[in-house]
Amino acid sequence: MLRKPPPLGFIVRLAWFVSAAEPALPDPRLVTGRLHRGEGTFLSVEHCQRPSCSLGQRACRPRMNPPASPAGHRGNHHARPTGPRGVTGTESLKEQAGIAACQFITDGMALGLGTGSTVRYSIIEIARMIEQEGIEVAGVPTSEDTRQLAEMLGIPLLEIRDAGSLDLTIDGADEFDQNFDLIKGGGGALTREKIVALASEAMVVVADDSKQVSTLGAFPLPVEVDGMAWDSVRDGISDLCPGPVALRGGEDEPFVTDNRGYILDCSFGPTISNPLDLESRIRAIDGVVEAGLFVGICDAVVMASQDEVSTLVKPGGRLG
Ligand code: 5RP
Repeated sequence: MLRKPPPLGFIVRLAWFVSAAEPALPDPRLVTGRLHRGEGTFLSVEHCQRPSCSLGQRACRPRMNPPASPAGHRGNHHARPTGPRGVTGTESLKEQAGIAACQFITDGMALGLGTGSTVRYSIIEIARMIEQEGIEVAGVPTSEDTRQLAEMLGIPLLEIRDAGSLDLTIDGADEFDQNFDLIKGGGGALTREKIVALASEAMVVVADDSKQVSTLGAFPLPVEVDGMAWDSVRDGISDLCPGPVALRGGEDEPFVTDNRGYILDCSFGPTISNPLDLESRIRAIDGVVEAGLFVGICDAVVMASQDEVSTLVKPGGRLG
């Protein structure tokens, strides 16, 4: 059965967002995809008309309750190396991970809405689910960028003080390891991201497979600091960090967060074998607002590779 077309207002908002996005977004299936709800636990895309899909090829994406294997590796997905409109392979992977993560969303949820180029596809998908499936959800944005995007797409928003506990946060990550510990803050939103994730019953990360590491730290660890104290914090972190500790944006034009803080990017290299210990050492330095280590917070990672989209569920986690 074909699904009903989206309302005109939604198409207009989406078209605005697509035209404003950089790089050009893949044409989201919200408008042109011909989606069919399957009998079981998957939503099928049959004879998809999108330029990136082979006509006639049957593809499935995980929906609710994908089957779990003992290894905690669930589901798979039709993965395209290249999306429409010439977007890169990585951009296509981000789209697929972002959409597949919405399998965890159910009607009535209060959601944490993460920040970044991967989770924005989840946010677009949430807007589609509201418009086309009639689900009722509300979101707490983790940044002003995400607030703007969600407002543009018509997603009802909440302030965290009004939301109380959230059901689920979906967010990106710069790195994740086998313990589901994360480095976050590449977009500078780590403080609000951590507040929102900690207020949530569960956290799902969306990522392409380049974010999977055996030891955290190749991605410079972002630390938000009070602007007044950034140089003394840099000195304090330098005692812990084997590589350079750099003020993001530089002294002349420092990057300023939504909280009016600065970011120090700390080049530990892939040495962070005890992220909990490092997090507490960094947070003990006067002037530190938050460290971009998320330890014991993430419950699942939806990871897209060239071959499939995998849902990795943390054993013993809140979604396990
Ligand atoms: C923002 C973040 C992002 O989630 C992280 O940087 C990943 O972003 P992207 O999906 O664009 O790679 O932590 O502060």
